[in-house]
Amino acid sequence: MTDAELLAAADAIAARAYAPYSEFHVGCAVLCRDGRVVEGVNVENAAYPLGVCAERTTFSRAITEGYRPGDFLVAAITASPCGGCRQWLVEMGVERVLFRNGGRIVEMSPDELLPEQFDAGQLGA
Ligand code: THU
Repeated sequence: MTDAELLAAADAIAARAYAPYSEFHVGCAVLCRDGRVVEGVNVENAAYPLGVCAERTTFSRAITEGYRPGDFLVAAITASPCGGCRQWLVEMGVERVLFRNGGRIVEMSPDELLPEQFDAGQLGA
């Protein structure tokens, strides 16, 4: 699975987004170490803050299926990940993140996405 194929999977799954309020459809496709691709979309709610980003539905699905942080190689997203999703990407230990931003395709590491990040090492410190 190439990066271009993974981003194409994210583009395709975005069509399944449930985004009647923003009409902004986001798709996410994550390549797992075992070769499997797990996909997700944003799911909105009439009570706006209850909506869930595509990255979070994707990783929630993967975790439910038995994957664990560290099992993920690349996340491809059709939009630049929001601040909260950057924290999720860090938590999930994904190695690389590929996303669309305007007309560009950007690749970043979790450290680049979220510098000086909060992690479990700080709990109880
Ligand atoms: N959205 C995502 O799914 N992921 C992000 O990282 C950025 C924002 C969604 C949330 C909402 O449904 C819509 O995009 C508009 O903000």
